[in-house]
Amino acid sequence: MNPPHSDVLVVDLHPVDDTRDLGFFVVLTIDRPNKLNALNSEVMEGLKAVCEWVESREDVRCLVITGASPLAPPEGKRAKPHAFVAGADITEFLGASSGEIRIKFTDNAVEALWNLSKPTIAMVDGFALGGGCEVACSCDIRIASTRAVFGTPEINLGLIPGYGATQRLERLVGYGKAHELIMTGEHINAHEAARIGMVNHVVEPEQLRDRVFAMARTIGSKSSHALAVGKAAVRSALDESLTDGVSTEAEAFALLFDSEDKEIGVQAFLNRTIPEWKHR
Ligand code: COA
Repeated sequence: MNPPHSDVLVVDLHPVDDTRDLGFFVVLTIDRPNKLNALNSEVMEGLKAVCEWVESREDVRCLVITGASPLAPPEGKRAKPHAFVAGADITEFLGASSGEIRIKFTDNAVEALWNLSKPTIAMVDGFALGGGCEVACSCDIRIASTRAVFGTPEINLGLIPGYGATQRLERLVGYGKAHELIMTGEHINAHEAARIGMVNHVVEPEQLRDRVFAMARTIGSKSSHALAVGKAAVRSALDESLTDGVSTEAEAFALLFDSEDKEIGVQAFLNRTIPEWKHR
């Protein structure tokens, strides 16, 4: 089955391994470089459809999400800056009512991304502002280039974040830093984002793709069943008390002992072979 078509998204499939059939990782590129990949309605609808497709494809092991690089500028014009996503498309805000926005922002594509059972990585090269920062925070892992810039500037529009930053960014960086970012609207660079725990790794722009692809390949080579169980267990820590969370983990760990992949993984370790996962 092919990925859903959209003029503003590019979906590429890459093999996890060049010699063994381990399935694919998907690179989803938001492709509106002249608008710094801002999230308009078309992007959001497309993104939701791609998330459904990724979830439905058993052979897709991991999702990488990124923004398109700037196009060559017309003669005499300056090039647009690099962007992951510069936020929700502000042109769709003018004159919009609470009713319209409530429909758009409830059960949206960022939630679809967050709710994927498969591992997700944000590959951030340039501005990740507002909704862009929130898309990144909805991924499991963020890898940024040194030219990445993060921020939640909605306060400058008389707004607050609407795609989950008050919750997911707060969980990543703590309420002190989340308040500072949301209240000042100030941008921070990639190193500062890494220092406060928003970003996992910072690399030079020319190394970004290789670094992200290497991680997607590493993750993609694991048991997708164990990955999904592990992701759900880590997520439960966001909603549950420590005591409840430890019980959730103990039960998830116990249930994995009934899985085929646990037998395969343990046997492979003991036999010094590479596990051939059944993904169940
Ligand atoms: N929504 C819609 N269009 C956007 C956008 C957004 N969030 N962010 C950038 N763009 C558009 C600009 O309007 C401009 O379009 P144009 O060339 O047709 O005029 C184009 O993208 C390039 O942006 P520009 O502002 O010219 O680039 P810059 O280098 O001067 O500044 C930013 C870059 C990121 C600092 C600036 O674009 C910005 O502040 N964007 C808005 C960020 C924001 O507030 N996001 C949260 C939204 S809720």
